[in-house]
Amino acid sequence: MDKGFPKDILFQTMEERIKYFENKTIAHPMLVNSYKDLMDKIDVAVKGKVLLVYGPSGVGKTTLFLKVRDQFFKKYYNDMIQDKGIIPVLSVETFAPEDGKFDWIDFYSEALRNLEEILIDEKRLPLSDMGVTLPIKPNEKTKRKLRKSLENAIKYRKVKVILIDEAQHMTKVGSAKGLRNHMDAIKSLASKFGVPIILFGTYELLSLRNINGQLGRRTRDIHFPRYNSEFPKEIEAFKNVLWVFQKHIPLQDEPDLLSDWKYFYKHTVGCVGTLRDWLYDTYHYSMKLNEKTKTLTLTDFKKFEPTIDQAYTMAEEITKGEKHLLAKREEKADKLDSWLKLDQVDEKEDKKRMTNKRPGERKPMRDRTGTDLFR
Ligand SMILES: Nc1ncnc2c1ncn2[C@@H]1O[C@H](COP(=O)(O)OP(=O)(O)OP(=O)(O)O)[C@@H](O)[C@H]1O
Ligand SMILES: [Mg+2]
Repeated sequence: MDKGFPKDILFQTMEERIKYFENKTIAHPMLVNSYKDLMDKIDVAVKGKVLLVYGPSGVGKTTLFLKVRDQFFKKYYNDMIQDKGIIPVLSVETFAPEDGKFDWIDFYSEALRNLEEILIDEKRLPLSDMGVTLPIKPNEKTKRKLRKSLENAIKYRKVKVILIDEAQHMTKVGSAKGLRNHMDAIKSLASKFGVPIILFGTYELLSLRNINGQLGRRTRDIHFPRYNSEFPKEIEAFKNVLWVFQKHIPLQDEPDLLSDWKYFYKHTVGCVGTLRDWLYDTYHYSMKLNEKTKTLTLTDFKKFEPTIDQAYTMAEEITKGEKHLLAKREEKADKLDSWLKLDQVDEKEDKKRMTNKRPGERKPMRDRTGTDLFR
């Protein structure tokens, strides 16, 4: 049973109360499941794998990204103490391209800057001492040189995983061929260093999937969904998230958000990050207005609510993304059966053949397939 915020918080300064709520992360089921699914898939991700983590805007993808980053720093903490050269995680955020096309020069520079920042924070050996030239003015360098620098940096720093947030910007290319080239570039980074690359982004990332069969084999998906009100269990989970939040807003009298769960759901479309920002803005504002505010009511929340227009747009994007995800999956499965003629295999006959073999008769294909061949 969640007891909510520690009661002594109420005796702390207004800034500290605000900070408490600001830093509070709720381990809700969708976040925990996505985290576990992702960590399982990273664990077995072999050389060259690209993992795609996608979900609606404001669901908590960056929160998951930061959690995975922290986890990797923890995992390699001892190695980092022993070898000052190691930086286990390269994490980069990509930006919306100004001219509509994703800019690799920006990306490589940002990645290198990121490694350099860690070096400064951790007082590590500068990359230049290790034969890596850092771009001072990125535009003066060609894309190839920057890429080479990044490749060297990844090698020398023994980077174990590359995390890219807002990766949907990488899909901005203008043509299917361009998209394939982008995916090839990402994939070759991953296979060259034998590290998994994890792309976090909105459903737009889905266009990087299934570009062709070879790429399809190299990607793994992790879906981080919102709470969907079509399913009673998810409504219950959303209500529980709301209840936990209301218990953690440091106020003398606990606000009652739960009774109005439909209102909060409607304006956030079931996305926890959007909900948290809304609650935080309301609390922050009320505290600044009057730090002795005892509780918050619907009137307070209305001021900062995501508007119906915004919620409508979010819902539209989500529905489109979810549809894209499930797009004709059953139809495709049936088509696959028919292409592969699996639908013409008589199940009963097949079973009979497998069980009624004559003594000494070998099972079909046993000689040519199976693990024995590779012993
Ligand atoms: N489980 C959580 N508990 C508390 N706060 C959360 C949680 N998940 C997300 N938040 C907060 O909600 C806000 C939005 O979340 P976040 O940035 O992770 O979402 P996002 O999916 O990356 O959104 P976008 O699509 O806009 O990039 C952030 O301020 C984040 O700290
Ligand atoms: Mg984000």
